[in-house]
Amino acid sequence: MLPFFESPRLYLRPRTLADLDDCIAMDRDPEVTRYVDGPWHDADAHRRFVVDRITRAYPDGLGYWSIVERVAPARFVGWVLLIPEDARGPEIEIGWRLVRDAWGRGIASEAARIVVAHAFGTVGVESVIAGIAEGNGASQHVAEKLGMKREGMANGYVRFRLSRDDLC
Ligand SMILES: CC(C)(COP(=O)(O)OP(=O)(O)OC[C@H]1O[C@@H](n2cnc3c(N)ncnc32)[C@H](O)[C@@H]1OP(=O)(O)O)[C@@H](O)C(=O)NCCC(=O)NCCS
Repeated sequence: MLPFFESPRLYLRPRTLADLDDCIAMDRDPEVTRYVDGPWHDADAHRRFVVDRITRAYPDGLGYWSIVERVAPARFVGWVLLIPEDARGPEIEIGWRLVRDAWGRGIASEAARIVVAHAFGTVGVESVIAGIAEGNGASQHVAEKLGMKREGMANGYVRFRLSRDDLC
């Protein structure tokens, strides 16, 4: 079971099948998935993919959190994840995705900071990675604000890493 989190502006709660339609609607915005590979253009495959990612049994403390704002807690604004890379591992991946009208207000960074603290403080990981498309400046900037460092390219994406040692 994943913990709930709160921050000055946000609540992070475990993502459930109740968020399925909101997640699919978010992914259908071509600007949202512009830099992310996935089955976005095949409705059945897309639905299966999101259901699988929601219902899969992740190791303790890992999974997806849906993000809502304290001022409008009924409205899904996106998610942040901490899962084995590509749901396989062995690296632990962090990621973020928001509906377009929530961009540009620091929400991804605020949510990701909570999950980074959880990853190192509670789960006890040694490092987290993120694979981000070369052109995805906003996402790269989120990674940099978290203190993540570029390691080069992996599988066509720029690989960022934050290690426990970087936190000191
Ligand atoms: C990436 C994403 C989650 C960022 O969410 P957000 O809440 O707007 O991010 P934040 O506001 O916390 O931080 C974004 C930072 O990037 C900056 N930024 C925005 N667009 C940028 C660009 N094209 N190039 C460089 N920096 C950019 C912002 O100014 C901000 O920095 P600042 O706080 O120093 O001003 C959001 O754009 C999104 O959901 N994109 C689509 C999904 C996606 O690509 N996910 C990541 C896949 S790796």
